[in-house]
Amino acid sequence: MASESQNWVVMVTAQTPTNIAVIKYWGKRDETLILPVNDSISVTLDPAHLCTTTTVAVSPTFHQDRMWLNGKEISLSGGRFQNCLREIRTRACDVEDEKRGIKIKKEDWSKLHVHIASYNNFPTAAGLASSAAGFACLAYALGKLMNVKEDESQLSAIARQGSGSACRSLFGGFVKWVMGKEDNGSDSLAVQLADEKHWDDLVIVIAVVSSRQKETSSTSGMRESVETSLLLQHRAKEIVPKRILQMEEAIKNRDFASFSRLACADSNQFHAVCLDTSPPIFYMNDTSHRIISIAEKWNRSEEAPQVAYTFDAGPNAVLIARDRKAATLLVQRLLYYFPPNSDDLDSYIIGDKSIAKDAGINGIKDVEALPPPPEIKDNIPSQKYKGDISYFICTRPGRGPVLLSDSSQALLNDETGLPK
Ligand code: DP6
Repeated sequence: MASESQNWVVMVTAQTPTNIAVIKYWGKRDETLILPVNDSISVTLDPAHLCTTTTVAVSPTFHQDRMWLNGKEISLSGGRFQNCLREIRTRACDVEDEKRGIKIKKEDWSKLHVHIASYNNFPTAAGLASSAAGFACLAYALGKLMNVKEDESQLSAIARQGSGSACRSLFGGFVKWVMGKEDNGSDSLAVQLADEKHWDDLVIVIAVVSSRQKETSSTSGMRESVETSLLLQHRAKEIVPKRILQMEEAIKNRDFASFSRLACADSNQFHAVCLDTSPPIFYMNDTSHRIISIAEKWNRSEEAPQVAYTFDAGPNAVLIARDRKAATLLVQRLLYYFPPNSDDLDSYIIGDKSIAKDAGINGIKDVEALPPPPEIKDNIPSQKYKGDISYFICTRPGRGPVLLSDSSQALLNDETGLPK
């Protein structure tokens, strides 16, 4: 380690998206390495609306590895963090900053400590796959800091050891996590199927469902499913391999009818596996079920499906509309059934607000004036469910990780290496 003084701090800031699986990962064949029982496919969400920003710093003045999440210091002692840090350190290379006279040699990295600060631009408590973006960002940012030469797929295998779904956040667009065959996990990594421009008609609306219930974590939920559900075994062996091929085809051909059919069926089967677990796990609630009915009824009344739905380990709905027109019709339906609790529409529909504008919704009066959707015309006036949704996020498929070079976006102070 050569440098004029020993007070330097070198740092890197990166931004990484979250992703939503349309063919689900549920079940591990190796708990420590995080190796899945089946392949999965996801859509990366636009980081403008949902992302993690992480700054990683190294300095000879740091005495231990430390991490801050959303401003609060958290422990790095967990096995998953330790595995990611170790894997990255073993791949570190020489780093030189000639201007500042700093040289870090490959072998120095095992002695140097890092500081990590991470921030989610969406509420962590909303249950929106924050660990996926978080571990992906950690692996990506540390990889850049330590001049790791591996490509995104190799980095995805490191992010995977932090949280399985994180490996799919190393790419934008449409991503497959290949389960792999090796016992050491070296071939269990993510690959990009198509970038975000390939199918940019799609619009994504996330309904954050109000819930007081403490959910079973994905990690323990899937462990219980692996131990007790025969449906999980059947799904992994017989169903998912075929579905993966069909979903790859649907994405390649931008075939929304097949995409929607497969995504909805796979979400429903994942929740069926949860019900088949002993004791059963309930992630969806009445509001989730209502959203499924609204989408199914609407799709059936049209010549072709307009919307796909998918639910992870919680009650929030992720709705994927075939295009902008369908998205405006979807937002009208959602607001008709789930009007906001207050008049504050601005905080009820967040993200890409232009979708609501296109749907003619500029204020609470427009929500109140929405007619019932035509597909329920002949039925008894339908019930409304005010307050059952906390808010909606309008977004779209998005890009993969990027480095943020503007130092004003760094979360750590470049002199002290402590949170700003
Ligand atoms: C339902 O990746 O959170 O979202 O690997 O134990 O950290 P661990 O689990 P996690 O599980 C995600 C499960 C899911 C489906 C999916 O994202 O494919």
